[in-house]
Amino acid sequence: MARKSDLPLLLLPLVLGVPLAQGSSPLPLVLNTWPFKNATNAAWQTIASGGSVVDAVENGCTVCEAEQCDGTVGFGGSPDELGETTLDAMIMDGTAMDVGAVGGLRRIKNAIGVARRVLEHTTHTLLVGESATKFAESMGFTNEDLSTRASKTLHSEWLAQNCQPNYWRKVTPDPSKYCGPYKPSGVLEQGIPAYKEVDIHGHDTIGMVVIDKMGHTAAGTSTNGLKFKIPGRVGDSPIPGAGAYADDLAGAAAATGDGDVLLRFLPSYQAVEYMRRGEDPATACQKVISRIHEYFPEFFGAVICANVTGSYGAACNKLPTFTQFSFMVYNSLRNQPTEEKVDCI
Ligand SMILES: *[C@@H]1O[C@H](CO)[C@@H](O)[C@H](O)[C@H]1NC(C)=O
Ligand SMILES: *[C@@H]1O[C@H](CO)[C@@H](O)[C@H](O)[C@H]1NC(C)=O
Repeated sequence: MARKSDLPLLLLPLVLGVPLAQGSSPLPLVLNTWPFKNATNAAWQTIASGGSVVDAVENGCTVCEAEQCDGTVGFGGSPDELGETTLDAMIMDGTAMDVGAVGGLRRIKNAIGVARRVLEHTTHTLLVGESATKFAESMGFTNEDLSTRASKTLHSEWLAQNCQPNYWRKVTPDPSKYCGPYKPSGVLEQGIPAYKEVDIHGHDTIGMVVIDKMGHTAAGTSTNGLKFKIPGRVGDSPIPGAGAYADDLAGAAAATGDGDVLLRFLPSYQAVEYMRRGEDPATACQKVISRIHEYFPEFFGAVICANVTGSYGAACNKLPTFTQFSFMVYNSLRNQPTEEKVDCI
């Protein structure tokens, strides 16, 4: 039992924000969705060389944008109905509770870099579309075509197969058979679901959480959205609390999957709130997935969670074609980025 006079000394490390059991503290921690190892590494190296958690999230996600991780991050992927690739990204500083984000960003490759500029150089949170492009240009980013041979091929194949799949309902001509333009059908069709799963590998957003030794948190995302989306569609990724969330007083989380469903549940915010109440990170992630599952049993999605002392976990919704979710971890107990898998629930 600690003598009374020992108490101030025991409390000192807490006041300084240094973990008591420093030798075994897992911090710093880098956690990201999917086996995007080079992104993990870039974030870790940033912290190791004295960068901030926000720098680490920016650098990590930038690597994925340049590598076009899974074709679903960065340029040249997920063409919309008109064949254009547009980008969504956000970055959140969990110390200042400040966010920078871009939605439907056109013709700029480094979306998370632009999100960082929104964070640093404005008091806004989210800029969208062509105006976000103008902002990016003023910040020195290059305006360039994001289409590639691969994205053009994807788009022409989609046109050749009568624009299947698409995300329209209750319109004419019948969107399950024909291309648009569409108009409201005027017929009250019954039983058309508010949700449609088309391709689970169409949504591999990078979501990243970084926590340093002092317990500073940051989180971020970057994606080119959903293949063949209706132009203007913005998913969960650039929305604080949906795609990612961070709060030094509780923890940080990020989500990946069908953004149109995830967005309705603010899963990253919810996970952080569970952790604030003392929930274990893995349990927090599971509870978030279970809650969405009650409404959308077939939804595709996964969440990663970490609390401010460096414990982490992940969870995903089980589908016939998706039973395990891979994510990356790098912390002070490891000497390299490590892939971990979690069984979906
Ligand atoms: C990761 O980085 C290594 C070394 O730079 C490179 O060889 C590899 O192609 C990268 N991985 C991906 C998926 O781009
Ligand atoms: C983080 O989670 C671990 C494992 O559940 C727990 O032991 C620890 O107390 C949590 N940290 C905080 C700050 O809640």
